[in-house]
Order: sequence, then structure tokens, then C-alpha cells
Amino acid sequence: MNGIKITSEDKFSIYQPPSEQPVAVVPDGTTCIDVARNVVQRSKHEQDWDESFFVCDVGWILDQNKRWKKELPRVEVYYAVKANSLQPVISTLAALGCGFDCASKNEIAMVLNYGVSNDKIIYSHPCKFTSHILFAKDKGVDTMTFDNEEEIYKLKEFYPEARLVLRLRVKDNGARTKFGDKFGASLEYSKDLVTKAIKLKMNVVGVSFHVGSGCPSIDSFATAIKDSRRIFDFARELGLQF
Ligand SMILES: Cc1ncc(COP(=O)(O)O)c(C=O)c1O
Repeated sequence: MNGIKITSEDKFSIYQPPSEQPVAVVPDGTTCIDVARNVVQRSKHEQDWDESFFVCDVGWILDQNKRWKKELPRVEVYYAVKANSLQPVISTLAALGCGFDCASKNEIAMVLNYGVSNDKIIYSHPCKFTSHILFAKDKGVDTMTFDNEEEIYKLKEFYPEARLVLRLRVKDNGARTKFGDKFGASLEYSKDLVTKAIKLKMNVVGVSFHVGSGCPSIDSFATAIKDSRRIFDFARELGLQF
């Protein structure tokens, strides 16, 4: 929103954090389109009047959070920062007590800057740079994913106390963006990985999966959860309680 300044003469009451991404409290019934029109109207006389901008309804985040807590009270949210890392989104989620799914050192650093505690962050890239692992270690972000043997060795060397989360490859039929070709261990390979991790005395604490972005299939979720159960059971047979 560079160049667009919202002033308090307007009918909206404005809170302007230092990041130049203003948050406005608007009257009931105001839509995102109303806000966009309002910004366009006021920016006509500004120097950078032709710059693009985004409008985000933070109220919708609050509603979705309420809905989540009602429908899935036992499931904690870890918001994937990559989806939208704009300041109003992250600070709203942080204020709601959400956790964060960070794919890189930069995302971890950004979320920590919002005052989020390290135990609310999962480092979700299954193939991490060593320097990024060391950064996570330095910041006490100890929960991280893996989907290959090399990563276990790397973590054994650089962060042996890490809490490992195995990323499973799951069915992602019909998803708009599929991740199965890129990330995730097959069910069989996952068992090898759990066995290997135990041998190396690494602490595997759970399983993660991604059914693909924009996944329309409830079946994909159901299958992924069933596969996760299988890995939980397999680990238990080896004496590991996820
Ligand atoms: C671990 C993880 N979480 C979340 C996301 C974001 O997924 P979505 O686009 O469904 O929000 C990705 C995408 O790459 C991911 O790899």
C-alpha cells in the first residue's frame, strides 16, 4: 500500500501500524469493494495514485477462527505463512494464539518478530538448508518435518534434539496444486524412515501431510488420515509413542 495514506478524517476509525499496511475498523455492512472504492477515491490526489493495493477482511479471519474452534476444538491451527504473510493477517492470527507453519529461515524470523513464541512454530520444509536448521536451533524452533533419510542424518548432525514430523505422501486427486511429486514419503518408505530414525535415536513425534492446495476431495483427507493412523500404529509397534 505504498503511497496510499488513510487519514482519520474519514468515516473509518484507523489504526496505522508502522508497516504501512493500515488496518481500518469499518461500520457493519461495509464490504471489501466499499473499502477498495474508498481507497481509490482518496488516492486520486496522492503521488503514487496508480499503485496496486490489496484489501483483506480481517473480520473474516476472526470468523473463520471462531468456526474452526467450534467445529474442531481439539485441532490446533498452524497457519502456513506462505499463503499470505501480510502484516494484518499475521498479527491477527498471532493475537488469536494460532501457531505458524514456516517453510524457511525468513518465514521463521518474520513470525518471531511478531512476538510469536518458538513452540508455536513448525518448520515445515522436509529438505532444509543446514544454515537454516542452525538458525532454527538458535531460536529454539525444534519441531520440523522430514521425508527422506538424508534429512535424518543432517538433523542428527546439526540438531539432534529436534522433534521430527514425518511428511507422508498422500492422495491429492483433483487438487489445484499437487505436492505429491515434490514432497512426502510413501507409506512403505515412511516405515523405513521411522525405523531409521529410531536407530539413530532421533525423536519422531508425529506425521504431517498435504492433500494439495485447493483440494476438493473429502476422500483425500480421509485416506491421508487413515495412512497417518497406520504410521502411528507402526511406530507404536516399535515402541515409539507419537
Ligand atoms: C507444509 C505446507 N503447508 C501449507 C502449504 C500451503 O498450502 P495451501 O496453499 O493449501 O494453503 C504448503 C504449500 O506448499 C505446504 O507445503
